[in-house]
Amino acid sequence: MADLLTLDRRDDGVAVITLANGKVNALSQTLLRELHEAADELAADLPGAVVITGGERIFAAGADISEFGGQDEAGPITAAFHGTLEALAALPRFVIASVSGYALGGGCELALACDYRIAGPRAVFGQPEILLGIIPGGGGTQRLARLVGPSRAKELCLTGRQVKADEALTIGLADEVTEDDPMARALALAAEVAKGPLVAQAITKRVVDAGLSGSLADGLALEREGFVEVFGTEDSRTGVASFLEHGPGKATFAGR
Ligand code: COA
Repeated sequence: MADLLTLDRRDDGVAVITLANGKVNALSQTLLRELHEAADELAADLPGAVVITGGERIFAAGADISEFGGQDEAGPITAAFHGTLEALAALPRFVIASVSGYALGGGCELALACDYRIAGPRAVFGQPEILLGIIPGGGGTQRLARLVGPSRAKELCLTGRQVKADEALTIGLADEVTEDDPMARALALAAEVAKGPLVAQAITKRVVDAGLSGSLADGLALEREGFVEVFGTEDSRTGVASFLEHGPGKATFAGR
């Protein structure tokens, strides 16, 4: 039973995780554990897609700084972040972050662990750890660099500068910026994806993610394997037959 977040499964196949840890959604050890449990629950009974959101003004303000101590505390904190965010990132479904306010430190890292970030007009991203004399410990140095490139990631992590929605979009940190509440767009996109060929989506995500951590040749080998694997699915037969009979985009998929 989670106290610091809610996990709702909607009728359209979309699962929504909403962080609810007080005013700033600090990612305390307890919230990280609940988030890990939510990821495990979703992995055991997969939805069609996932949306993660936080508060309207603050998506999440990062690690709970009041839990910081010395080096003895630092190890478990970074381990909890990595374990939890990896469990979310590894879900074989499209995971969307709906960010309407501040996503700072671990909050930004949570958004980075998602597959796609939809920002509202007042969203603010940043890795301000350096202002505390420390470094990101929830994957920020790695995922941010892969997303926006090493030089921009270093500039952001070395200065702690905050990035507003429009700049986030320009540098590729946000994938879309909405005119108002990003949740409506996140839910609509997730619902659309949830109706798709879910095994093909899972293979796509796996191949993109695994390919990015290796060489191009290794990535292409993974794609070849995935391409053969996907032809074993019912949805591939449905999709190809529907195209030949009715044209593009008409198939109804079973998700198998
Ligand atoms: N961990 C623990 N407590 C935090 C926190 C965090 N990451 N972020 C904010 N808080 C606390 C503040 O200390 C304050 O506590 P108080 O009410 O007991 O004084 C309360 O939350 C509200 O914060 P405040 O700064 O007054 O709110 P704000 O609306 O002016 O600003 C933020 C909100 C998120 C922009 C600002 O709090 C902030 O920059 N937080 C730190 C972000 C950060 O450095 N994260 C990386 C952590 S390594």
